[in-house]
Amino acid sequence: MSESKLVSLVKRDDIPSIRTIEVNGVEHWLGHVKDFTKHEGLTEFLPKDNRISMAWVRLEAGEQLDEHIHPVESMILICEGGASTLGDVETDMGAGDALLVPPGRPHGFIGAEPTGFWGLSLQFDSRGLYEDIADPWATFHEDENYELKHADTIVDKLFQKNEIFKDRFDKHRLFALVNKGLLTDSETRNRFLDCFQVWSNHFQKMVFNRYLTSADGAHLELAWDHLIEEFGHNMDLAASRDSSARIFDPVLEATSSWFCSILNRLSDMQKLVLIHLVVEASATVFYKHVAPVMSQTQHARHFHEHDDGDHEHVKMGYDFVRRQTPSLHEAEGLLEIQEQGWSMLMSVMSRIADLVVYGSERQSNSNAAQATKQPAAELES
Ligand SMILES: [Fe+2]
Ligand SMILES: [Fe+2]
Repeated sequence: MSESKLVSLVKRDDIPSIRTIEVNGVEHWLGHVKDFTKHEGLTEFLPKDNRISMAWVRLEAGEQLDEHIHPVESMILICEGGASTLGDVETDMGAGDALLVPPGRPHGFIGAEPTGFWGLSLQFDSRGLYEDIADPWATFHEDENYELKHADTIVDKLFQKNEIFKDRFDKHRLFALVNKGLLTDSETRNRFLDCFQVWSNHFQKMVFNRYLTSADGAHLELAWDHLIEEFGHNMDLAASRDSSARIFDPVLEATSSWFCSILNRLSDMQKLVLIHLVVEASATVFYKHVAPVMSQTQHARHFHEHDDGDHEHVKMGYDFVRRQTPSLHEAEGLLEIQEQGWSMLMSVMSRIADLVVYGSERQSNSNAAQATKQPAAELES
């Protein structure tokens, strides 16, 4: 009896407020942002694998949150009072209205007369926009990266878009979870490494296949230089592990193997974009988040080497692309494979996150369900 928890009330006033945020050295007024993770009782109550981030937001009448963008989807529900919006949509909002903001789309708010508003800000992928005050996920109008600058050449456009994709990848749920301590216990870390091994094996195949299928001299040379640097890294990773499980997950398999198989249909330039601009650039982000967690384990060497090496592998690609002047027709193919590659990588990482977070729970939940849900099943029948 004493074990069971009682109903509890959390007053909005009891959640601490962030009032301003500093982005690139400039301070911006937020009004009130009351992130649910800043309240102990709420944090304890919400499930550990909760993906929805919630924060109360408030602007008084006449207060303004300047136009800005986020790297992830965001929804603002007005609960009391009213607001007028800035950015893509300039309109008035009242209680019950929801503003749906896709990644990268400008929006802002002014508190309406007479009382301003209270609203709920929701994100759907593990981390709130201002949850980590040292790394706010907002970019304001005067900042660099706010929008695609005018690109003089196709190569410029390719590079600019790559920064945007890379930034979105950096905000991936998997890394938000890793930074919150997902990999601190060894069992979870092992499950993560089992999944990562699948990706690492397919990565090797991709690098080999690129060498096998490159036609032109300069491309072949680059493919070789890259191959000898990457050769056997997946085996090293496997060898650094005492125990590992061979995972076959259809989604992880399909998304990871896509990279090797698609190469057969790509031009040498497309291969280069996919491998260096997309996959290697993603690896720099991946290792940035994951290497610190692994630094105290026997896998430290693999993760440390990549942290340095992959920056060089990105540079290889950028230097090569910079010397090219692709035709308009060729450019379409490059931008297309860039977008597809980043989107497949997001899916690989999402699947890894799901397998790590839910993998074992699903198993133990289904056991528990069989043990405890019997009476309910009888009732239904
Ligand atoms: Fe916002
Ligand atoms: Fe690399």
